[in-house]
Parts: sequence; C-alpha cells; structure tokens
Amino acid sequence: MAFQLKPLPFEMDALEPHMSKQTLEFHWGKHHRAYVDNLNKQIKGTELEGLQLGDLVKHAYNNGNPTAYFNNAGQAWNHDFFWESLKPGGGKKPTGEVLHLIERDFGSFEAFADEFKQAAATQFGSGWAWLVGIPAGSHGEDKFGKLAIEKTKDAVNPLVLGHYPLLTIDVWEHAYYLDYQNRRPDYISTFIDELISWEAVTARLEQAKATINFYDVKMSSI
Ligand SMILES: [Fe+2]
Repeated sequence: MAFQLKPLPFEMDALEPHMSKQTLEFHWGKHHRAYVDNLNKQIKGTELEGLQLGDLVKHAYNNGNPTAYFNNAGQAWNHDFFWESLKPGGGKKPTGEVLHLIERDFGSFEAFADEFKQAAATQFGSGWAWLVGIPAGSHGEDKFGKLAIEKTKDAVNPLVLGHYPLLTIDVWEHAYYLDYQNRRPDYISTFIDELISWEAVTARLEQAKATINFYDVKMSSI
C-alpha cells in the first residue's frame, strides 16, 4: 500500500506569525508531498511497500551505503516527525522528567538551548538538528542512556545511527526562507521560544524508556 501524506496536526495558519501559512503551503503541501509521492513511485510493485516508514528508512540507509530511495524515505519520515514536534503556543521550557534529564545531561535548560541552537545553525547546507536518546554502551563508558544533540545532513536521521529521536528542527532553507530569509538563527530561536511541543517530546521519551535505561538502577527515582 502506498504511503500517504499525513495531515498537519494543526491548522495551516496556526503557527503564525512564527511560521506562516505560506511556508506551510509550500513546505508541507509541496516539498513534503513530493517526497512521499516520489518514494511511492520508486518502490511501487516491490516488497518494500509493506514496510513501516521508519523500518524502510533504516533498510534504505543500508549501513551508510544508501539506496536510491533513501532520500525520499528519510525526508518523508523526518517531516512527519518535524510537524509533530511543533504546536501553536509551544516552546518555552519543558517540565517534569524531560527537564530533569536535560538539566542532568546538559547542565541546564539554557545550556541545552545554546547547544541545540549551535548545532542547528552550523549544519552546513541542508539538514536537521535533533535531541536524541542514546542507549547505554554506545558512547564510551557510560552505564546508562543519556540525552544528546546531533545534526544530520540532507535526509539522514538518528534512526539510522541507532539513536532515539525526541525532537527535531528542519534547517533546510525551504523551512524558513519565506519567513526569515537568510536569518536561520532567528528561525531557530523562534522554534525554541514559541514552537516546540514539549508534550510530543515527553511522549517520545516515554516510548524511548522501553528500550533505553536512562538511570542507574540504584538511582532510578527522580
Ligand atoms: Fe523540510
């Protein structure tokens, strides 16, 4: 069965003035739609049509030797994840366990915001910046999982690196040029201050905890 372009989780003008209706008409209505349509054309009639999109992305990455349909599969998945990372009246500061882990792993929320901005601003050309959960044992001697920030190029995402994505910002020019022109840092700051759905991050963290142990067993309460 062909992949479908999912509806946005908010009205097209709901993020104004921070992200305009015009931006979403192009970004979701044209760019995202094209990724989905082109992916469907590339895999039509193959056994790949039956896969979940996230599984297809990992399959297509092919351990760093991406197949022809990787870019469209990755971009289709990344944009679904990006729209769900946004909400009207979002941004500010998270609460609860998300804030606790951010403060533990970055030192403070402000330090996290600075590092996230830096990653998003310095991704050269097209790509994404992410907050991710990293399993224990995949980053040196740490005995339990932790939060980290990473940036990826073009359509690459943390799934293919074995990490668990919690939040993303699209820093392709098509994401911000109509509203911010070349001022990518202003777009990133607005994303943090006004647009992040920390509820989505909280729900994703709950799912991540099924596979990542973020706490030393002896220190499991916060
Ligand atoms: Fe995009």
